[in-house]
Amino acid sequence: MSGPGCNQDGPNVETTIMVEGAAEKMKAVVVHQPGGPEVLKLEERLRPRPSPGWVLVRIRAFGLNRAELFTRNGDSGDAVKFPRIIGIECVGEVVEDPDGEFSAGQTVAAMMGGMGRDFDGSYAEYSLLPHSCIIPINTTLPWENLGAIPEMFQTALGSLRIALNVQSGKTILIRGGTSSVGLTSITLARDMGLKVLATTRNPQRQSLLEENGAHEVWIDSDGELSDRIRQKHPGGLDYVLELLGTKTLNDSLSIIKNPGGICCMTGILGGSWELNGWNPMEHLWNGKYLTAYSGEGMDQKDLQYVIDGVQEGRIRLNTDRVFALDQIQEAHKYMEANQATGKCVVLI
Ligand SMILES: NC(=O)c1ccc[n+]([C@@H]2O[C@H](COP(=O)([O-])OP(=O)(O)OC[C@H]3O[C@@H](n4cnc5c(N)ncnc54)[C@H](OP(=O)(O)O)[C@@H]3O)[C@@H](O)[C@H]2O)c1
Repeated sequence: MSGPGCNQDGPNVETTIMVEGAAEKMKAVVVHQPGGPEVLKLEERLRPRPSPGWVLVRIRAFGLNRAELFTRNGDSGDAVKFPRIIGIECVGEVVEDPDGEFSAGQTVAAMMGGMGRDFDGSYAEYSLLPHSCIIPINTTLPWENLGAIPEMFQTALGSLRIALNVQSGKTILIRGGTSSVGLTSITLARDMGLKVLATTRNPQRQSLLEENGAHEVWIDSDGELSDRIRQKHPGGLDYVLELLGTKTLNDSLSIIKNPGGICCMTGILGGSWELNGWNPMEHLWNGKYLTAYSGEGMDQKDLQYVIDGVQEGRIRLNTDRVFALDQIQEAHKYMEANQATGKCVVLI
C-alpha cells in the first residue's frame, strides 16, 4: 500500500511499499501548497522502502538552492505535485539497494534528475532516490562540508567545462561573483589556470572575491560594465559566466572577444529568464558565441576531482551557515534575503 510518507510519483516509479505499523518513522519537511517559507512544515512521516531501481539513502546533509525557492513558491511548473518533500541534492549513506549496485553504508551524493520536483527529495532524514541520481564518493570531509559541494560545484564545473570549454591561460569574467556558484566558479577557474575577473554590487565584498582567487574585482552597480572593462582589456575577454541573467546579458556579450568570445548564461540573480526584442545580428556580431548551462553535467570523476581538491586545500569551499532541519523556515528566509556569502547547508 502507498503511505503518506511516500509521495513518489516520478516517471519511473513503481509503487512504493509502505507497511503501516512495521515501518519506521522519519522527519521530513513537506510543502502541502505553494507559498512563503511558512509552508515548509516539519512532519513525522513513514520511512519509504525501496523497490527495484530505487535506493534508500540516509541523508546526512543537503545544500540549499534557489531552485527550491522556486518550487516552494509554485514556480517549477506543472510537473511538481503537492504535497512534496522538496530538495534537489544531498549527501548521505546508502541504507538499502534492492538491485545490489550500492552497498549499505556506502557514502553517496545525489542531485537533480527530478529530485524534489517529480518525486520526493532531500529535505528529510531518508529519501528514496533513483540509481541515476546517485554518485558514490570517497571522502573524509565532514558532512557539513560535503553537503555544500554537489549542486554548487556541478553548476560551476559544468558551466566552465561543458558550456564554456575553458582553456588555461585565457580570461574569464564571473558576473555575480559573490553568489555561491560565483565564488565556486572563481576558485575552479583559478585552479584551471585562467585569469579571473569577478563582479559584485557591494564594494565591501572585494576582499571576499580576492580571497577566492579573483585577480580583478569589478563593482557592477548598474549592469553597465562593458565600456569600463574594454578600457582595461581593449581586445575583450575570452569568456563571461553570466549569473545575473538576461538583465545584463547584452552588456556581457559586449565584453567578450570578437571573434571567438563565449558567454554562458547559467543564473538569473537579476530575476529574468527571457529577452524581449533581442537582435542576434547586433549582439552576437561576427563570431561571438552564446551558450547556457542548465545542470546535470557532473559524473563521478568530476565530483571526486572536486572533493579531492577541497580535501587537499586546492579548491576553496565557501559554506556560509549550517542549519538544522527544524530551522528550515529560517534558512529559506535567510537565502531569500540574499544574506549568505557562500552555500547554506542543512545538517541532519
Ligand atoms: N543553471 C543551473 O544549473 C543552476 C544551478 C544552480 C544555481 N543556478 C543559478 O545560479 C545563480 C546563483 O545561485 P546561488 O545559489 O549561487 O546564489 P546566491 O549565493 O544566493 O547569490 C547571492 C548573491 O547574488 C547577488 N545578487 C542577488 N540579487 C542580485 C541582483 N538582483 N542583481 C545582481 N546581483 C544579485 C548578491 O551579490 P552582491 O550583493 O555581492 O552583488 C548576493 O549576495 C541563481 O540564479 C541560481 O538560480 C543555476
